[in-house]
Amino acid sequence: MSADGFEKIADVSEIQPGAIKVAKVAGSEVWVANIEGAFFAHPNKCTHAGGPVGKGKLNGPVIQCPWHGSKFDVRTGEVVGPPAKVRLPSLEVKLEGNAVLVRVV
Ligand code: FES
Repeated sequence: MSADGFEKIADVSEIQPGAIKVAKVAGSEVWVANIEGAFFAHPNKCTHAGGPVGKGKLNGPVIQCPWHGSKFDVRTGEVVGPPAKVRLPSLEVKLEGNAVLVRVV
């Protein structure tokens, strides 16, 4: 891991608008989504019951957890559909050249 906690997750070209990449970093899974050219990252753990929310279906800026259907706004992590009540934590993302980096600590 780099000194500032950022780890490369993907090349920018790997995550096209509307796409998601799930990656394992420092022992935990995270996912990064491209929403109209902006990248957003969250832990791959639904706040409802720990489901792999990053494997869910993306519809515009909203992702739906594959386990029980909670919906979250990827840009903010806010819950936009039940049963989840707690927003998804957001992870810091930065671009360096052609690399997408996520801060995992
Ligand atoms: S674990 Fe995601 S909706 Fe239940």
